[in-house]
Amino acid sequence: MKLIDELQAEHAEIEQVAGAFLTYVAAPARARSIEDGAAFLQFFRSYANHFHHAREEETLFVALRDRAGLPADRGPIATMAADHERMAGLLAGLAAGLEGGADTEAPFRESAAAYVHALWHHIDAENSVLFPECEPRLRRNGVTELPSRPMTPEECRALAAGRVLVARYPPPPDPGEMRGEGCIMCPAFGVTCRGLELEWWNEWEWDEFEDRMNGG
Ligand SMILES: [Fe+2]
Ligand SMILES: [Fe+2]
Repeated sequence: MKLIDELQAEHAEIEQVAGAFLTYVAAPARARSIEDGAAFLQFFRSYANHFHHAREEETLFVALRDRAGLPADRGPIATMAADHERMAGLLAGLAAGLEGGADTEAPFRESAAAYVHALWHHIDAENSVLFPECEPRLRRNGVTELPSRPMTPEECRALAAGRVLVARYPPPPDPGEMRGEGCIMCPAFGVTCRGLELEWWNEWEWDEFEDRMNGG
């Protein structure tokens, strides 16, 4: 499905720029370029939020709810949407530090790391659980394609600037952050989401699972 392929390719761009952002904030405050800080902010606002997260929420999540009959008020969809909101809040909190107004360095670096890690965990959850589950569930309900849209000129500029930032601030080779696949790695697992099986499986998926377990 083209939209899902696009979203997945966008994840690769976003996670690279997030890594570059860690490299950028690791430099002493006086050595950091304010223009580059603004370019990071612009990338996350315009490309990650306005382009990427918005298409997930407005197209993909809506189709999962309305056409595949999946709950949007709990489980993976609610968790992913809540992540988007929480990350937008974290980013808003970073703006002052990026615009050169942060007077305390340690909290700024901590919130920058919290934002990057939240983004990475979110991307892992979508890549390993949400996206692979979307296609078969939509297809079973007769949905084989979903609409997408081209980038606006501003989103295009944000992406181009993001790629420049990745070249200028190479992401750390070992970011020291545990990442991984599946529900078990998702911070929301057992907190706001009981995991894919309990949230999304229907009766016949459970029957099939039990048959397999019983060797049938
Ligand atoms: Fe997302
Ligand atoms: Fe995403």
